[in-house]
Order: sequence, then C-alpha cells, then structure tokens
Amino acid sequence: MNNRLYIFDTTLRDGEQVPGCQLNTVEKIQVARQLEKLGVDVIEAGFPISSPGDFNSVIEISKAVTWPTICALTRAVEKDIDCAAEALQYAKHKRIHTGIGTSDMHIRYKFNSTRKEIIERAVAAVKYAKRYVEDVEFYAEDAGRTDNEYLAQVVEAVIKAGATVVNIPDTTGYCLPSEYGAKIKYLMEHVDGIDKAILSTHCHNDLGMATACTLEGVLNGARQVEVTINGIGERAGNTSEEEIAMILKCHAHLGIETNINTQRIAATSRMVSSLMNMPVQPNKAIVGRNAFAHSSGIHQDGVLKNVQTYEIIDPKDIGIDDNAIILTARSGHAALKHRLEVHGIELDEERLDQVYEEFLRLADKKKEVTDDDILMLAGADRAESRNIKIVNLQVTGGVGIRPVAAITLDIAGEQFSAAAEGNGPVDAAINALKQIIRRKMTLKEFTIQAINRGSDDVGKVHMQVEHEGHLYYGFGASTDIIAASVEAYVDCINKFRKTSH
Ligand code: KIV
Ligand code: ZN
Repeated sequence: MNNRLYIFDTTLRDGEQVPGCQLNTVEKIQVARQLEKLGVDVIEAGFPISSPGDFNSVIEISKAVTWPTICALTRAVEKDIDCAAEALQYAKHKRIHTGIGTSDMHIRYKFNSTRKEIIERAVAAVKYAKRYVEDVEFYAEDAGRTDNEYLAQVVEAVIKAGATVVNIPDTTGYCLPSEYGAKIKYLMEHVDGIDKAILSTHCHNDLGMATACTLEGVLNGARQVEVTINGIGERAGNTSEEEIAMILKCHAHLGIETNINTQRIAATSRMVSSLMNMPVQPNKAIVGRNAFAHSSGIHQDGVLKNVQTYEIIDPKDIGIDDNAIILTARSGHAALKHRLEVHGIELDEERLDQVYEEFLRLADKKKEVTDDDILMLAGADRAESRNIKIVNLQVTGGVGIRPVAAITLDIAGEQFSAAAEGNGPVDAAINALKQIIRRKMTLKEFTIQAINRGSDDVGKVHMQVEHEGHLYYGFGASTDIIAASVEAYVDCINKFRKTSH
C-alpha cells in the first residue's frame, strides 16, 4: 500500500464555522498562502453556496495559491455544485466535495427518505460534479454512526460513479478510536473498487478522541486526513493538523509520509490564532505555550542534563527558535519586516510604516516586543475600517474610591462623550460607553490573557456580547487592560451594527 498521506486542510471551512471567528477574504488569502508554505495537499476554501463571502473567498484563494488543490463544499444538490464549479474556475487544481447524510438518524429525520433513495442521490451528485471536475470527493455525513454494511454500499456506489476520494466523517465525534479504525478496515476489505479511490478521515473532537480516531483510520488504510490548524472547528473542534503531523514525525517507524514542513507549524498556528482572535489553550499539544515549558525541578534538572530525558519533540522541529531575535525600541524596519515574513505576513510599504510606528509606541511601553505582539499589531488594521472608534478614555479608581470613567467615541465621524460610575474600572468604562450606545446588550463572556509574562505585558481581551438574540465576539489588546476591555466591547458593537443594517 502507498504510504503517502494527503493532508486536507479544512481550517477555512469547517474550522471557520466557530462562531465569532469568521475571517474576511484578505485574511483567508493570508492563511491559504501560509498553508501552501506549510505543505498541505488540499485547502478546503469554503462552501460557496452558503454566502457571497464564501463564494468570493473560494475565487480569490484559487487565484492566490497554486500548489495545493482547492476544494469547495456542496450538499448533494445541483445548484450547490453549479455554484462550487463557478467559484473554482480559477483554481489550478480543483476538487468538488459533495455529500449527504448516511446514518439512519439523518436519513429518517433530516431527509425523511430511505437508504435506497440516499444512494441514488449520492450517485447523482457525484455524476453531476464529474461534469465539471475530474477530482470529486464524496462525504457520507455521520458515517461514524452509519452501519458498516450500508456504508460500504454507499462507498461502492459513489466510487463507481467516479468519486476519487471518499470521506468517512465522524460528524458528531462519537466513535471510539478502535471502532473508527475497524470501520475503515471494513471498507478497505468489503468495497469493490476501493483501489480506485482514497478513503479520507474527518473526525470531530466532541469526546476528545479526534486525533486518536484519525490515527486509527490511517493505520487501517485511510490515505487522506481532514484536519484544522489548532484543531479549531465547531463545538469541540476537528482533528488537529499539528498533532497528526508530529505524531507521524515522532513515530517515523510507521512509515507514513506527509508533505508537511513541520518547521512552519508554530508560525501557522500563531497566524490562525491571531487572525481568528482565538487563543490556543496553554497546554494544547504541540502548539500550546506550555507545550515545552518544564516547571518541576526534577524535569528541569533532567532536561538540562539531556533534553531527551523529558522532551520527545525538539521545539525547532515545529519552528520555535529560542535564538529568535527579540525586537526592542532600537530595532529597525528591516528587523520588523523580517519577523513578520517569518510568520507569513507580507505588508506593503505604507502598512509596514504604520505597523512600525505602532511597534515603536509599544516598544516604549515594553522592553521586549515578541512575535505575538507584532502579529497582534499587524492584525490591528481591521479596527481602522470600523464605524465606532474610541477617541479617549479616562478612568479613576483604586482602594476605597468608587471607580468613575469618562469616554469619548467617534461614531461615523461625529464625537460623543459620557461619564459613569461602576463597581470596578471596567464596569465604569462600559457603563459610560452604554450611555452613548443605547442598545440592549449583555456581556456574556469576558477573558483577559497576558501574552507573555511581566506586568508590562500586552493584555488580550476576548468578549462575547448578546444583542437581539445574537452573540457577537470582540477582541482588544493593549498594555492597559481597561482600554483593551473597552476596545473588545466596541469591537462587538461594530459587528452587530454592521449585521443589523
Ligand atoms: O463533519 C462533517 O460531517 C462535515 C462534512 C460536511 C464533511 O464537515
Ligand atoms: Zn466536519
């Protein structure tokens, strides 16, 4: 059996379904270019019929990257497939990913249909997609809960109809790794014509087993894995790309090869986290900030004597360079440009000048400016196109004093000021802001995170605000956590203003 494993990256489709983490087309192109450098084989760029934004992103990503295959998702519906084919028109290598639910639960409750009819619809969709592209992938949604005998009939029928790849999603993240591996084995052994297609894994992490299931799938014959950077995705997310890549690297004896350049993993992880405003949990395998931090005395002692005593991965293998240049107020344009380029960010001269100015302001407040800081600065231009901006904010507070805040906002060019008290400085600032923006809104979630260490560090704030039954996510970053909190709140408001007009 061929031991080349294809990496199908769905960060920009399944990953991007995380509420509040949507990217605009420019940001998606930036991620797609980085994925190309990382070496993924397929980029699932979107679900074109779902929105004009997704349609446009598939078009622009198709123009921006050349090496990976660009894939577009559809339901088993002709108009979806027509739309996907149109969106893929500029892709050098293109794939349509079509499919339908195959579990009895989906057949009965979602489609009010029968097993026979579902096979007919699956075959028709594959044949229809084949009119546009040679490379057609079929997904059997909820295959994790589909009985193996029926699943084999579906897989056999779609391969006969021309599917080049067949995706076996564990849509609900239900399967045990052994069960999922046995499912792939069953299909490898019972489907006539299985040698004409590649089986693909697509595992969700609801029970924390996505990586284990994916690995079992590969060990039993799947030769494509559908994964996302940082394991992002709806609910508990998808299989994490960096985990699969590093498992196969650390266990080279398995003999399974990918095209991933693992040294690009850390940069890609940071880019996705920063553009999506989605922090990576500190203890996340491979890319969490504690993944290589040894704190117990026994471990530190062992690592100092020989790193391999407690470390199975060399941080350099994922692109973490202890000797990376730390930027300070004395660093020039070229050093900043270089660090940004290491992270796949190329800015035009004008934007680089702006980021450099912001960098100098930050370097005045902090001794050392880290890669996370400059990624945050490079992403900050999104705030400039927003309708509401903070002009100034003054807060007084302390022990034994009732906190008071005064704020001035610029709303579409006009300035408004207000002042209010609160039970803390953030509460006072938000109360003042609410005096200007008189909408019913409730703060649902509020997290503050320091990027590195030290009291001079930049604080990142993530907020969720509910307005008219919808949740909006906002982000702010500053060395002043009250300013960062208000920025995050304003970021939420800017989003719901846009959606409701
Ligand atoms: O989880 C799933 O079943 C999917 C399919 C649409 C491929 O994402
Ligand atoms: Zn999925």
